[in-house]
Amino acid sequence: MEFSWAMANHGDKNGDDCCDSPADGKKELIGFQRPLTELMISTKCSDWLPAPEQLGFSRGAGQKPFRCHIYRTNTINNKAMFTKLTQINSRPAPFQFYTADDLWTNEHTANQMLQYHLNDSIDVSSRNKDFIERSIDWIVSHFTVGSKTSIIDFGCGPGLYTTGLAEKGATVTGIDFSKNSLHHAEQVARRKGLKIDYVHTNYLDFESSYKFDLITMIMCDYCALSPEQRAILLTKFSSLLNPGGAVLLDVYSHTSFNQKEESATYELNQLHGFWSPQDYYCFVNTFKYEREKVTLDKYTIIEQAKTRTVYNWLQHFSTASMQEEFNRNGFEIDEFYANVAGETFTPESAEFAVVARKSPDTENNAGR
Ligand SMILES: C[S@@+](CC[C@H](N)C(=O)[O-])C[C@H]1O[C@@H](n2cnc3c(N)ncnc32)[C@H](O)[C@@H]1O
Repeated sequence: MEFSWAMANHGDKNGDDCCDSPADGKKELIGFQRPLTELMISTKCSDWLPAPEQLGFSRGAGQKPFRCHIYRTNTINNKAMFTKLTQINSRPAPFQFYTADDLWTNEHTANQMLQYHLNDSIDVSSRNKDFIERSIDWIVSHFTVGSKTSIIDFGCGPGLYTTGLAEKGATVTGIDFSKNSLHHAEQVARRKGLKIDYVHTNYLDFESSYKFDLITMIMCDYCALSPEQRAILLTKFSSLLNPGGAVLLDVYSHTSFNQKEESATYELNQLHGFWSPQDYYCFVNTFKYEREKVTLDKYTIIEQAKTRTVYNWLQHFSTASMQEEFNRNGFEIDEFYANVAGETFTPESAEFAVVARKSPDTENNAGR
């Protein structure tokens, strides 16, 4: 609760009858309309008032005192509340803030995310178990994965793909900035006797002199990045690929963009306590950026002790915009699919997948 100082007009400016209880709420509130230095406070009120000086008031020369009550109220200052609500409901520029680490690495939310990843039957954080098994089988057959294939998985989470691909014999690296997820992935690898290289870092900062035959980025994580971040990533992919190597990733489509609507809601302990073990109010503002085909779910999480804002951006693509972006960054697209399990592409699908390779020009330049 915020407190503010309020002043109550006591009526009789001359009399000696002083000091109603501070709890008396019937007086007319004047607020701080006068400059503080002009305020006079009757010293007779001092049995419950703090010293005027403590309140920052001083008596100007020749000013006559008038009787008033000044007391602490727990009335929320309306202006402050209005300003806060304006901030909460404000629309930032597309990709103005990047808070992915707050979503994935905050101790409490990382634990919740891990539960979602490991829930075999839902498509939250990771897809369901059946889909992942089908997807791994398709990857193995499409990219002829064997003991000589080196694969790197960007945003590997708890290793559902890296484990499956290592079990098929590939040499696998997984990158993630969630310690929690990597810890789980490492434990699974140890238990299964798999040698998987897990790297704990922000994948936008990842550097390596090793080259890979296949780069994967699964569950539309590519969409969470700004155009500038995606360009950095594609340059990185290009430098990490062996000649003839491929990138496999999935994205949200314009169909998915068209299905979304702007909204503003709030809820106590939204998502069943997902954001904090303490009680909180979570405001969820969904914004659409029509020209850029970007959506934002902006979460403002207000606990008693702190407020934080998490921005979940999603870029949505058409096959044409994907093609243009990849070409601009030195890649050619082999094929579009409905998903990373290699199903046939349909334009109505809310998501689609892409297999891309370095363009011959980029490949030749890299060889020089
Ligand atoms: C939607 S999950 C997908 C996990 C995995 N690919 C799967 O399909 O099971 C996205 C993962 O990317 C990780 N991640 C997001 N942004 C990242 C970043 N900038 N650097 C490293 N990891 C990141 C998250 O921690 C999370 O594990």
